[in-house]
Amino acid sequence: MTSNDPLLQPYQLKHLTLKNRVMSTSHEPAYSEDGMPKERYRLYHAEKAKGGMALTMTAGSAIVSRDSPAAFGNLHVYDDRIVPWLAELTDACHEHDCKVMIQITHLGRRTGWNKADWLPVLSASPVHEPAHRAFPKTIEDWDIERIVVDYAAAAQRCQAAGLDGIEFEAYGHLMDGFWSPATNQRDDDFGGSLDNRLRFTGMVLDAVRAAVGQKFVVGIRMVADEDFEKGLSKEEGVEIARRLAGSGKVDFLNIIRGSIETDAALTKVIPVTGMRSSPHLDFAGEIRAATKFPTFHAARISDVATARHAIATGKLDMVGMTRAHIADPHIVKKVMEGREHEIRPCVGATYCLDRIYEGGEALCIHNAATGREADIPHIIPRTQGPKRKVIVVGAGAGGLEAARVAAERGHQVTMLEASSQAGGQVRLATQNPRRKELIGIIDWRLAELDRLGVEIRYDSWAEKDDVLALSPDVVVIATGGLPQNPPLTAGDHLVTSSWDIMAGSIKPAENVLLYDDNGGHQGMGAAELIANSGARLELVSPERFFAPEMGGMNHVPYMRAFQEKGVTITINTRLHSVRREGNQLVAELGSDFADGWRGERRVDQVVVEHGTLPLDDLYLALKPLSKNGGAIDYERLVNGGDIFPARNPQGGFVVFRIGDAVASRNIHAAIYDGIRFGLRI
Ligand SMILES: Cc1cc2nc3c(=O)[nH]c(=O)nc-3n(C[C@H](O)[C@H](O)[C@H](O)COP(=O)(O)O)c2cc1C
Ligand code: SF4
Repeated sequence: MTSNDPLLQPYQLKHLTLKNRVMSTSHEPAYSEDGMPKERYRLYHAEKAKGGMALTMTAGSAIVSRDSPAAFGNLHVYDDRIVPWLAELTDACHEHDCKVMIQITHLGRRTGWNKADWLPVLSASPVHEPAHRAFPKTIEDWDIERIVVDYAAAAQRCQAAGLDGIEFEAYGHLMDGFWSPATNQRDDDFGGSLDNRLRFTGMVLDAVRAAVGQKFVVGIRMVADEDFEKGLSKEEGVEIARRLAGSGKVDFLNIIRGSIETDAALTKVIPVTGMRSSPHLDFAGEIRAATKFPTFHAARISDVATARHAIATGKLDMVGMTRAHIADPHIVKKVMEGREHEIRPCVGATYCLDRIYEGGEALCIHNAATGREADIPHIIPRTQGPKRKVIVVGAGAGGLEAARVAAERGHQVTMLEASSQAGGQVRLATQNPRRKELIGIIDWRLAELDRLGVEIRYDSWAEKDDVLALSPDVVVIATGGLPQNPPLTAGDHLVTSSWDIMAGSIKPAENVLLYDDNGGHQGMGAAELIANSGARLELVSPERFFAPEMGGMNHVPYMRAFQEKGVTITINTRLHSVRREGNQLVAELGSDFADGWRGERRVDQVVVEHGTLPLDDLYLALKPLSKNGGAIDYERLVNGGDIFPARNPQGGFVVFRIGDAVASRNIHAAIYDGIRFGLRI
């Protein structure tokens, strides 16, 4: 039966029939190896293809020239060796009738000068790029000539690999570096008038068309309004879109609004949790109306209803749901099968993007299979072995994931949760209203457990005998942890934990010092709540910059709140002790750098964040009774085989612990534990 869902209608782009309107826009997950898209890269895209999307735009900013060193694992499309790898990836997606294109670029000033071959970074004019700290040299005539040739050669490689098309990246890179008055200060043929500023783009287009012919699809992902005073105006942006559309040399426009030269600006282009949904959709629709040209766009269109609206109202021809597919690569399939409610939601955490800089690979905060397709399936297979009775103690993110995976495997799963609600520390994090969407991590799992028939017993504080009474085959300890104080020489009883602030059990006082030596969201969430309460706040960290475990994108809304509320930030400083003086507390501060340095702060409240200590009593009680003595064979966990060694053959069950019940970590770590252990039951 044919569907009348606007999202599922085919789209004709030149000779290409895109089977529906859903695409993944270009994004570099940093899965490349030696600049090549090898197995990990291929499986990542093939999964989306299996999941039903019509078009996957591979790479993020694949680099056309050697002097454009990779900023975050970008593919080397300047290298002939890439052709067979791209061909393999393309074939793997074509098997599922998913078209494949690639974004190519010269990064211009948006990279580091001290990477790869240490060749000079260049741009239209020598304007500093804040995000990568590059001071570019002014591009010269011979640079322009060779880079135009490089673009054409790169396009030919893509065509030779059997790709369905390419797009140029023209926001924050070399090409639009010429367009923008903020970065083009030239007074020669490449500066001044719009004609001159478009000259380089025209040269690239001519060379590429000469190289690949008219039939190959060539598009451009372009900024059509930089949205800052000195930047490219909307009027000029729309004019550029019109000219490109009318040039006969491009086949689609993929619209961007905003600038990416700082982290703060980038979050307007790629909004994170707590920011508006689809903020530039109407703008992209205006470009489509003005150009009457195939228009693609992505920016926080995370849910199917908004995507459907974008197509149904004619704002877009193809809707990008990029992070949405990092969270769930099977969106289209689920829509087609009437299982829209089973889509794992993208909660906007942007752990994925932050990780390409912070951890060297994109990972989804709550889909641990993404980017690990070789080892962890997105669709959990039924067990071939015996069906087991599995007890999961603790319904935080990790416990829920372990329960979901074990239930999908066909085991009989019961959960015991001490409190009256599931969610653990994720629920705590959502007490910061700006991050309330994270509850999707919990709600999706609860809905899945409901579908799978898993019983959750709330208000059940599980002791050893309670668990034994259920005659389990497997016990998963997902009891999490409890907050601990940093090592203080005195005053442990005087400090308030960040958890108490987050939970609302202790209100922020008027004058607060918050000490965070964990470096992640936990301390920052409490700090944001305190700042928003109107309290005077000083944030103290022993690190070289605050919250180093959090990436640049997630840093932005915290920093915005801190600056707006006048929070004082003190780094390189440790909290040594706290004492009471009258009705105030005195926090004594020290330094790792200058032994004798001491500081003091008189405040009403000292809030501390120092991670958690595992809540492991139950684990320790069950461990001696278990077959594996709590042990895990890590070698087999990574390479395959039975992961539970038989240390105590008389033991009646297997027990293991996951997430913060082992040690203080983060949401992804708990969920990764949940699935990788769950798969081995
Ligand atoms: C890990 C990651 C890497 C990205 N790299 C690129 C890139 O190299 N080039 C690009 O044009 N966009 C890049 N993007 C932006 C995406 O294409 C997309 O515009 C953005 O994620 C907003 O769309 P969404 O809300 O549907 O995710 C990246 C996004 C992510 C999450
Ligand atoms: S990390 Fe967050 S933003 Fe990124 S895909 Fe996962 S849920 Fe979406």
